[in-house]
Amino acid sequence: MTFLITAGPTQEPIDPVRYISNRSSGKMGYAIAEAALDAGHDVILISGPVNLAPPRDAKFISVSTSDEMFDAVHQHADSSDICVLCAAVADYKPAQVSPVKIKKCAAQVSLELVPTRDILQSLGLQEDRKFLLVGFAAETDHLEANAAKKLREKNCDIIVANDARIAMETDENELLILFRDGETKKISRSSKKNLARELVKIFRNSQQKV
Ligand code: CTP
Repeated sequence: MTFLITAGPTQEPIDPVRYISNRSSGKMGYAIAEAALDAGHDVILISGPVNLAPPRDAKFISVSTSDEMFDAVHQHADSSDICVLCAAVADYKPAQVSPVKIKKCAAQVSLELVPTRDILQSLGLQEDRKFLLVGFAAETDHLEANAAKKLREKNCDIIVANDARIAMETDENELLILFRDGETKKISRSSKKNLARELVKIFRNSQQKV
């Protein structure tokens, strides 16, 4: 099977030297990519800027902005069997990108932001999709309710929910998996490596039911 996996943060430029981003390390997405390769699958890894070496046998696509990630995902989704959108895509980007460095001034400044496109939702709304669609939900409160809302609104098959405070920048995670049919499965705290192995098995078994 072919896995398409997104990982890491996106960077939304303000001017040539500044950007908006987040603390995502990319570790969960890269671990899923490694686990899928170990299980004999093909992997297309679409990654924002992270400090990790790309898995050797993956097709690796490096992106920076949410728009670049959107285009790369749409280019490869239909030829994939399982799309796992693990990236922490920025929800907003500056309304205008200055072509030159913005100079400091004494006055207070404010930055106008506009929403980015939701990549997961754009795939979920694709009516004739053949691939299994997996999203992630990073929450700090009401984990299950917020994740269930994302599953519904983004029309995915599986949402993997985690506590953003445990997951970000660390090697461990704890997961709650929500399936489209209402089933849930908890995987207790473990290394991202172990969790990734479990997830790949779950995704592969679910794909066979799609
Ligand atoms: N996602 C995406 N494109 C975006 C924003 C999010 O594809 N522009 C995907 C993420 O990759 C993840 C899922 O949507 O699979 C949920 O991301 P999350 O940040 O938890 O949720 P948001 O939809 O951004 O909602 P909120 O920040 O309000 O919790």
